[in-house]
Amino acid sequence: MKVFHHKNELKNHLKTLKKQGKSIGFVPTMGALHQGHLSLVKNSLKDNDITVVSIFVNPTQFDNSDDLKKYPRSFDEDLRLLEDLSPDIIVYYPEALDFYDGKIEREHFDFDGLEIEMEGKHRPGHFDGVGTVVKKLFETVQPDKAYFGEKDFQQLQIIKKLVEKERMPIQIVPVPIYREPDGLAMSSRNLRLTPHHRAAAPFIYQVLKQSSVLFENENIDTVKSFVKNAIGAHPYLELEYFEIADEQSLKPATQKISGNKYRGFIVVYAGDVRLIDNINLS
Ligand code: PAF
Repeated sequence: MKVFHHKNELKNHLKTLKKQGKSIGFVPTMGALHQGHLSLVKNSLKDNDITVVSIFVNPTQFDNSDDLKKYPRSFDEDLRLLEDLSPDIIVYYPEALDFYDGKIEREHFDFDGLEIEMEGKHRPGHFDGVGTVVKKLFETVQPDKAYFGEKDFQQLQIIKKLVEKERMPIQIVPVPIYREPDGLAMSSRNLRLTPHHRAAAPFIYQVLKQSSVLFENENIDTVKSFVKNAIGAHPYLELEYFEIADEQSLKPATQKISGNKYRGFIVVYAGDVRLIDNINLS
């Protein structure tokens, strides 16, 4: 498997492949790969001649330095998992300074308001960091298609907006949330859960599923109170937010309008691990 550390070497290699008419699929990751990432990679392998996977714990998207320090890293195991899927995968594993040309800074973006809701409120600067890294990755890899998980649904909508605004000819392909058998959405952060918190965490999806049943007949306030009370009563979980928002604008909804599509978005702390999930309510 080819691993590139320097962006110019990767760019030159991909240029040659593109000249041969090969299509490029791209899966950006921060490593600590799990089945959720692998489902993105499998989709890319199926759709494209070449698949590039980047592994880069991007410092500019962390609003909390402790979270960055504790973010799990397992490069050798990541390579092994990718190699098992296909030895032809191209891996991009840059150093932060090379990646950022010596200046680790984030650009400021206007994503037409998508960036100010939910995660934008709770993690200041996060989406500027995501926009910065993904724009640079897209400029380097210049993929035909790029794959993003629906677990980070707000991120997915923001990346769609990024390619629209930057006029990048890249198709953004959403991939459904990959869950553990007990319902917990797969996340690299799950590795950091204590046994107690790991046992508690599937409750989040159980509550989300119940909220989607309630949503059929109840108003938005009732559904929100239900989720708040259910998570609030759990001894090992702490709700940061639950929001019901329009799927396209991500604006919080106060009442249902027929024809609109809604999603429930949740963030819960299990100990010091921040877990994110969402569910389609339409
Ligand atoms: O979803 C992630 O893992 C990251 O936000 C991404 C898209 C790889 C950018 O660093």
